[in-house]
Amino acid sequence: MSAEFERMVMPPSPAPVVAIDGPSGSGKGTIAHRLASLLGFHVLDSGSLYRLLALAAQHHGVGLDNEAALQVLAGHLDVQFRQGPDGDAVIILEGEDVATEIRSEEMGKAASLVAALPAVRAALLQRQHEFREEPGLVADGRDMGTVVFPDASLKIFLTATAEARAERRYRQLLEKGFSASLPALVDDIRARDERDINRPIAPLKPADDAIVLDSTRLGIDEVMARVLREIEQIPELKRRLK
Ligand code: C5P
Repeated sequence: MSAEFERMVMPPSPAPVVAIDGPSGSGKGTIAHRLASLLGFHVLDSGSLYRLLALAAQHHGVGLDNEAALQVLAGHLDVQFRQGPDGDAVIILEGEDVATEIRSEEMGKAASLVAALPAVRAALLQRQHEFREEPGLVADGRDMGTVVFPDASLKIFLTATAEARAERRYRQLLEKGFSASLPALVDDIRARDERDINRPIAPLKPADDAIVLDSTRLGIDEVMARVLREIEQIPELKRRLK
């Protein structure tokens, strides 16, 4: 088959994906953003979709266990992701910027409740696939490598002890101006892990072909260096590095 004929009859191969999964507070978000900027890729923060759905449910008076109503809401979620002038994420839900509001611990907890419902996960799947655009995507979540993008070019599973993650989250929340209690955060993180790991659908677990990185004793720069070592092994990703 000539190269030209092949281009005409073969569907184009989908944009490459790097999947970064792991529990809450493992540093996935920071690594995903840094990596996306080095590769020039788009970013999917899939947790924000579950957080947005939980907030939309609150706005519309829908209970967090009302699976049928949440499924409808998820299918019609009126949301736009943009970048503000300072590079920060702007997330517009039904006309209102909620980027800060959805980051609260309360919304994290509510997100993990709606995320356990199979109809909700199914309704958000297509929306997540739509983020896969050229030149590529770094997708951060719990099931990026196992369910949403099982054909990802690289799968990283980032983890750390609950205590280390709670402490990081504590510092982040204080920096963002939220008040927080460290012991309460350890309890919340354990409860959220428990729910995410033990749910029957798309549970939090490394894909069989994921590289597991424990960041308990690593700074973010060290984690990034290890991720880059993995990127260097994959030619289609290595050639995108800026
Ligand atoms: O990552 P983040 O803390 O924003 O996610 C909030 C919650 O959304 C998680 O605790 C998890 O229950 C859910 N989630 C999920 N699958 C994803 C991303 C997040 O179930 N891919």
